[in-house]
Amino acid sequence: MNRLGVLISGRGSNLQALIDAIRNAELNAEIAVVISNEPEASGLTRGQSAGIETLCINHRDYSPRERHDQAVVRALQERRVGLVCLAGYMRLVGKPLLDAFPNAILNIHPSLLPSFPGTDAQRQALDHGVKVSGVTVHIVTGELDGGPIVLQRTVPVMPGDSPDSLAARILIEEHQAYPAAVRIMLAGRWKIEGRRFVNA
Ligand code: GAR
Repeated sequence: MNRLGVLISGRGSNLQALIDAIRNAELNAEIAVVISNEPEASGLTRGQSAGIETLCINHRDYSPRERHDQAVVRALQERRVGLVCLAGYMRLVGKPLLDAFPNAILNIHPSLLPSFPGTDAQRQALDHGVKVSGVTVHIVTGELDGGPIVLQRTVPVMPGDSPDSLAARILIEEHQAYPAAVRIMLAGRWKIEGRRFVNA
């Protein structure tokens, strides 16, 4: 399982956190491939700079959308990826990918799920007036941002926060949380009970 495939759509700072954790021997894994659905994603450069194979599989080139998922699955399987890490991957994960990697796709989300799923989680949190937000790493299922929760960390909301300032504070926590969650997954001492991720 410790061959990772990282899927991105943009900046890739969580990808960078995984690269750094592996480099610092905090995470015993190898990133086999970085795949972006966006050709302009700056995260692709982070992968290349780290000497990792990077691919762009542009969703606009595939129709219907399952075809895109199938192309991603092929690329991951060809590289014997065991765990898929979504890192700012702004696409719904379709059935072909879910079926090919059961309980083996992680996502990182900038809120304490089940609060504020979907896009603009930090703005949703501010609009709601919560005093604490945070980060969630969860297993990806067919339910949007709804799979079993592997790890959560809290982040305080400060008076005067903007979506950007809250996002920046959450991001610092994300960069710790994602390698930690991958470590938990790779250690393998866990099971899924109902919708709960349980340390065995
Ligand atoms: C991160 O904040 C991540 O939690 C969020 O996108 C950002 C990606 O940043 N993901 C989602 O909102 C998923 N619903 P990055 O490209 O620098 O890792």
